[in-house]
Amino acid sequence: ACTPGSDGSPPVVSATPTWTPPAEPMRLPDGFVLGAATSAFQVEGSTTADGRGTSIWDTFAAQPGNVRGGATGDPAADHYRHWAQDVDLMADLGLDGYRFSVAWPRIQPTGSGAVNQAGVDFYRRLVDLLLERGIEPAVTLYHWDLPQPLQDRGGWAARDTASRFADYAAIVVDALPDVTGPWLTINEPKTTAYVGYGSGYHAPGVSDVDQMVAAVHHQLLGHGLAVQAFRASGVAGRIGIALNLQPVYAAGAGADDAAVRADAVENRLFLDPVLVGAYPDDALGDRPGQIPADPAVLDALVREGDLATISAPLDVLAIQYYGVTGVDSGGQNVQLYPTSDAPWQQVHPEGLYETLTRVRDDYPGAPPLVITENGIPDRTPEGTTDDPERVAFLRAHLQQVARAVDDGVDVRAYYAWSLLDNVEWAEGLDQRWGLVHVDFESQERTPKASARWYADVVAQHAVPL
Ligand code: NOJ
Repeated sequence: ACTPGSDGSPPVVSATPTWTPPAEPMRLPDGFVLGAATSAFQVEGSTTADGRGTSIWDTFAAQPGNVRGGATGDPAADHYRHWAQDVDLMADLGLDGYRFSVAWPRIQPTGSGAVNQAGVDFYRRLVDLLLERGIEPAVTLYHWDLPQPLQDRGGWAARDTASRFADYAAIVVDALPDVTGPWLTINEPKTTAYVGYGSGYHAPGVSDVDQMVAAVHHQLLGHGLAVQAFRASGVAGRIGIALNLQPVYAAGAGADDAAVRADAVENRLFLDPVLVGAYPDDALGDRPGQIPADPAVLDALVREGDLATISAPLDVLAIQYYGVTGVDSGGQNVQLYPTSDAPWQQVHPEGLYETLTRVRDDYPGAPPLVITENGIPDRTPEGTTDDPERVAFLRAHLQQVARAVDDGVDVRAYYAWSLLDNVEWAEGLDQRWGLVHVDFESQERTPKASARWYADVVAQHAVPL
């Protein structure tokens, strides 16, 4: 992912030089799905309705200081009550697909045992209407809203959570056997491990490197067990995992080795076990760029058969792409590219092309790819629907997708993040990620300029200049 930058070389060495798009709109293949995504906690609201249990994000957001502005999961975008209107909105935009997540605490309020039928019914109605409108549903089983009772027993740091997740997955798959888009087991296990159990900036707010490493393994194990449950159910769908990947570039002299290790931490620690059945040997340790944990911590968690379970063949690999990372010789993050309203997001569209081709080249057995998230926060000035930065971002990234497809990478779908303005986790309501503006007081929806632009992309199946 990074090229040598020995002393005297330019400070930043990127494997993807700036690319000039062709003068014609770039076409996407027939059958390529263009959609938009959301997640349950971020849009649904109604956190106590119809028997829903408490999730770790309800607990976390209720603690003052954890979420900017004191936002909670209520009302969010009130999608639990506006779901039909939201599907109409998707139909108006002509979307091919919609990716949403199922809230585990609506299905099993305590994380195990009896099914809460009212929760199942909500998603049943949603899938029915999507299918009726010709919009392909894609379902994420876990998008960060762990039932609180499971956290009380250790959460993802506990091995048992992986088995509980597989039980829950089986319930959802049985209830929605006609889902036509991809199933995603776990959304961004890296973020949950590193930010939920490492920095503690996300729920459950744990900051403990051993728990963080355990959360990596147990989420991946949960993924593998859920895939087993999916295959056992006999449904005719496709399943994969949603990994957030990012190229890591060496920044400055002598940073190459640190960048390679940081690449293990950011990418290979998840890609290798899922696609090859082995953990990389350079992600953990005391050298620059590594997770500061004894590799024995991970070894001790891995039982016989785990890696075979984790690496069972998938139908799709879902990639979420937001930007790139720079790393200096000490392993510290360095800003190399302009950031968006989200300070962690270094925008570099070519990095998406690099990510797609890298997966193809480094993992020959990888299944077809889908891009389940890509987007940017961009605030529309009061009284307008103008979000030119989002339009520019989506155009540049979709061009890189088309470029990868033209170069023979098997990419089948792209979902913009996000359909609606929503609760951006610890950032609360400040960052506006939606194609569609949401007034959180009136719950009025207004498509932004980017939504109209994207509707045109979907209609043409091409990226306008
Ligand atoms: C990834 C997460 O899956 C999603 O929930 C979040 O809103 C976006 N990144 C933007 O940060």
